[in-house]
Amino acid sequence: MNITKLNFKKLLLFIPVFIVSCGGVPEETTSASTDKKAFSVAEVLTMVAHENEVTRTLYTKAIVGGGKKQGFKFDEAWQDEKVEAGPLPALFLRGIANDIRKGDVPLGLYLSSDFPISASNQLVGKQAELFKEIKETREPKHFYDEESKLYTAMFADVAGAPACVSCHNNHEKTTKTDWKLGDVMGATTWQYPADSLSYTEAMNVLKAYRDGTTAVYNDYLEEIKNFKESDKPEVGDKWPSSGKYLPAPEVFIDSVRKLSAYATMSSLMK
Ligand code: HEC
Repeated sequence: MNITKLNFKKLLLFIPVFIVSCGGVPEETTSASTDKKAFSVAEVLTMVAHENEVTRTLYTKAIVGGGKKQGFKFDEAWQDEKVEAGPLPALFLRGIANDIRKGDVPLGLYLSSDFPISASNQLVGKQAELFKEIKETREPKHFYDEESKLYTAMFADVAGAPACVSCHNNHEKTTKTDWKLGDVMGATTWQYPADSLSYTEAMNVLKAYRDGTTAVYNDYLEEIKNFKESDKPEVGDKWPSSGKYLPAPEVFIDSVRKLSAYATMSSLMK
């Protein structure tokens, strides 16, 4: 994580972002410096990518992995009326990306691979070239994409849960059947039109991502309400690891918040 490269002044600015994004303090940004371009686009995309990593791993392990053990189904056609299932992790991410696109924050988010299940996720051009290096080093790539005129950051998407590997290896449309835990399976690409962001703009990026997560998770719970044949898990403060339960949206987001706070703190203290 490049957050370690923040200088001291930026660090001071970063701490309130961190606290507010963790929900600890009401939004109060009276400092005169708040409208200055306090963050580079690379710093902000690194923060949101971090949050995304935590969200995706939590969703994959606790909801998909844990849920499957309880007999919950997850499917590509989860939004189909006849299909009684939740979103696959990649589609959860795509849902977040779609929700962000609907809002005012000009943040783009994509998931792709050199061996994709879905042909539309095939890495091409400059991104395919850079991905070769990402696979080797696992380090992110920050660059200006001349074609789209957008500042771009690509991060390794690692098989962080056994469910990633087993599902991809066994998928009928897979282009690779020997993925292993810990492999770089693809890249998460983020784009933003400016090279630096103010405090408020940085906050808005983080908030857009978190709102997107809540929106997709709510869509999933809405689908469940319409299940006719499958069991409906009880929604509340319990997780699938303890039975036919699903955490309520605020419980899920609260876990993301705690896990990403820890991760962000760790990278600040390195
Ligand atoms: C239950 C099945 C399932 C699980 C679990 C799963 N995926 Fe996928 N994944 C898919 C499907 C299906 C697609 C294609 C979705 C689409 O149409 O975009 C996909 C897409 C992707 C892509 C984009 C490239 C492609 O293959 O189309 C990446 C990268 C990816 N997944 C990585 C992961 C990682 C990392 C995990 C674990 C954190 C994971 N997946 C978990 C089924 C799964």
